[in-house]
Amino acid sequence: MDKILIVEDNPDSAEVLRDILVKEGYYCDIAATGKEAVLMVSTSRYSLILLDVMLPDISGFSLLEKFKAEAFTSMVPVILLTALDDTKSRIKGYNLGCSDFVSKPYNHFELIARVNNHIRLKNTLEDLEDTNNVLYTLAATIEAKDPYTRGHSQRVGKFSYLLAKELGWKESECVKIERAGLLHDIGKIGVPDYILTKPGKLTDEEFEVMKTHPVLSAQICKSLSRLRDVIPMIKHHHERIDGNGYPDRLAGENLPLGARIMAVVDAWDAMTSDRAYRKKMPEGKVFEILSSGAGSQWDRKIVEKFLKVKKNLF
Ligand SMILES: [Fe+2]
Repeated sequence: MDKILIVEDNPDSAEVLRDILVKEGYYCDIAATGKEAVLMVSTSRYSLILLDVMLPDISGFSLLEKFKAEAFTSMVPVILLTALDDTKSRIKGYNLGCSDFVSKPYNHFELIARVNNHIRLKNTLEDLEDTNNVLYTLAATIEAKDPYTRGHSQRVGKFSYLLAKELGWKESECVKIERAGLLHDIGKIGVPDYILTKPGKLTDEEFEVMKTHPVLSAQICKSLSRLRDVIPMIKHHHERIDGNGYPDRLAGENLPLGARIMAVVDAWDAMTSDRAYRKKMPEGKVFEILSSGAGSQWDRKIVEKFLKVKKNLF
């Protein structure tokens, strides 16, 4: 059951609020002072806080600031309770991180509607966060099965972010390619371990199985709407600029730019790491391979940029 903390020094007013919210199915605690409220949030987990602006020991605004600064309350929505219907207070409250205002005397229906909305939003965000965490944990777990690929996705994410930045991408787009890097091989969950960790060359049949992983990675990420933009980068990270890659043999401009960036970084990290079937290659040799594959396997401009800025990036 969602739990609400009412921070209100007037006992009658606090009781009115509690009655309304308990009838709506919420469990409520009441704190009459700022000190009490601080203690209560440190021992209980609340879905929402209703906070009176005027408290005997501390201003509601200062308490709001405190809540937003603490890790365990920073994500809890706070609705300020105020008799003042002035714009200045509202702007100050919003700037300090409150989610909403309710003015006294309370309109029963308005109060419930606002509380329900904020709690629903918080729960949805938490669900999203959970799904997100599950995906990242899953990606890390798959890699951890093979000591040779441990940390690979994190490096691909981080280096793709840095390279995209060098290529002039906006911060929000760089964050997307970082996510794509973290999740690009998550579809390897569908590839048997004996293929993933095989010390020798894969047979044609085994390679066909291995080739299914980008599509499965994209499929898994479809469960999260916030990953919608990164799916093309994930799905096409094994395509080649000449159209001889997989899964869709996309070539040239048809290949998403993010996938072209990731392909270079992915290849770099794979070649400079030990693998079950070979030792890591010296940097100079990898530079040579990337240069000779520019224009056929990889996007020439991206390889050139990568080779130019690599030293400064990582
Ligand atoms: Fe891959």
